[in-house]
Amino acid sequence: KHKVIFDTDPGVDDAMALYFALAHPDIDLIGITTTFGNVTVEQATINALYLTRIAGREIPVAQGVPVPFAKAPGVPPAFIHGADGLGNLPSRVTVEGKAEERSAAEFIVDMARKHPGEITLVAVGPLGNLGLALKLEPKLPKLLKQVVLMAGTVDEPGNVSPVAEANVWNDPDAADLVFTAGWDLTMVGLDVTHRVVLMSSFFKRLAEQHKHVAMDTLSHAVNFYSDFYSSIRPNMGHGCFGHDVLAFVWLVAPEMFKTKSGRVRVAMDGIANGQTMMDKIGTIPYPQAGWEKDKPETRVCMEVDAKACENLIDQTLSSGWLL
Ligand code: BDR
Ligand code: CA
Repeated sequence: KHKVIFDTDPGVDDAMALYFALAHPDIDLIGITTTFGNVTVEQATINALYLTRIAGREIPVAQGVPVPFAKAPGVPPAFIHGADGLGNLPSRVTVEGKAEERSAAEFIVDMARKHPGEITLVAVGPLGNLGLALKLEPKLPKLLKQVVLMAGTVDEPGNVSPVAEANVWNDPDAADLVFTAGWDLTMVGLDVTHRVVLMSSFFKRLAEQHKHVAMDTLSHAVNFYSDFYSSIRPNMGHGCFGHDVLAFVWLVAPEMFKTKSGRVRVAMDGIANGQTMMDKIGTIPYPQAGWEKDKPETRVCMEVDAKACENLIDQTLSSGWLL
């Protein structure tokens, strides 16, 4: 089983990813850390507590950074995920539970020291918590088993600018720290997440099958998110990209992906802000431009078997995990 800490800004596709992780038999979710991004960090924490508690799971939640490392804070995209991050739920049931006293970065460092070499960190929001954890514990890359990111893009156009993916663009300085830190690092970016479309009707069917508040919540959220995607991509039908869930799919089924390894760095200002650049040639030796030899490499997902991926998401969420 993969022992996982999930760093997230829930967010509709984050909620999808969370439920995939809870449902999958090979994943042991030991903690959730929250960040600003799709919503404020306070709302992200409320959502992480809500989504886990309505699913009957008492997983620890630690709140993280409220703003980017260096760039000016932006406004959460309510038109994509809803003002509450879950597609503007008409009501919420009451749940118990509150966040850890520790911050997200402290939680990550504590858990990594307690289980050296065992923890996989799956991060699907802006990367400030990981950046901060690295500052608290410079040996973190050796203490974690691996890091899997939903972040960035290499060949596929960006989703917040022609070159930038949202999570990286939201905190490019933290992202560049993460890409150069030297852990076992996998990037699941738009090159693959834009290949997998999930229909709102699929989540409606799951909600009908489970008859459970957790699946009703997810289906409502996906419906809102699909309104957004179908408005900007009419050919897609009423569906959406599952972005964050693909980070977990890679973890449990890496054979569904084709990857390429190389040094990745991030543009931290100007019009290319948030662009992830990969040295595909592998020999660019120009330190003055930021491409020193022997810098850590990232395993970048370049292709995915979309059908196999959709089937796995279907099978996993349809299983008896909520009963
Ligand atoms: C990423 O940005 C967020 O809006 C999504 O939750 C996902 O993590 C996709 O670019
Ligand atoms: Ca996210």
